[in-house]
Amino acid sequence: MPDPRHPLITIPPETPLVAPSILAADFADLGADCRDVIAQGADLLHVDIMDGHFVPNLSMGPAVCAAVRKACPDTFLDVHLMVTDPDAYVDPFADAGADLISFHVEVREGRACRDLIRRIRDRGVMTGIVLNPPTPAERVMPYVDAVDLVLVMSVSPGFGGQAFIPDVLVKADLIRPALRADQRLEIDGGIGPETAKAARDAGFDVLVAGSAVFRQPRGSRTSVINQIRGGSPIPNTSG
Ligand code: DX5
Ligand code: ZN
Repeated sequence: MPDPRHPLITIPPETPLVAPSILAADFADLGADCRDVIAQGADLLHVDIMDGHFVPNLSMGPAVCAAVRKACPDTFLDVHLMVTDPDAYVDPFADAGADLISFHVEVREGRACRDLIRRIRDRGVMTGIVLNPPTPAERVMPYVDAVDLVLVMSVSPGFGGQAFIPDVLVKADLIRPALRADQRLEIDGGIGPETAKAARDAGFDVLVAGSAVFRQPRGSRTSVINQIRGGSPIPNTSG
């Protein structure tokens, strides 16, 4: 039996995976909202961590991640650190049940970047490197070999619900050919049924979607998840 917690490993690469961002979930009823999107067909959960410094917003810390891990014990947790000091958060989020921790190339390059990748791996956690819309794809290329996933931001990080920036799609032309079969290319920001096709066509195979998924009522999210993945819409039969 493949490990259900590891869709990045067990599902063939380039099969699009849908990763709802819990930033758009109902924080007052987070466990139920997380379980709902998984029951409705999401492949993993994306956990957005903001420090009020690297980005002008605060979101959640390791205690919330641990609570999500408890609510969804078998779900792959993809933790996106939008923080100035990612080194400080490796152990807290590994302890909180992260399956993958990604950090921004804008805050760690060269030796510090390689050391951080190694520290995450040494905790038995998968690693991702992230680049912001203005950052050229060339900046992540020295590290692509060492990570499990490259995450291209398609909005300026800090807030959910922003408009998709299509200019970032060309970054896949450089990054995708450099990836092995066991690595993934993720896109984050402004993804919904209307923008996901361009992202999939460009070569992205992990699609983060916050507001597009969570703004649908609980029990009625299968169709939007399926459309983002690239399947045909499923008629909403509930309620
Ligand atoms: C942006 C976050 C994204 C964002 C996605 O700072 O990294 O994950 O919440 O939300 P939507 O899909 O609403 O753009
Ligand atoms: Zn994110």
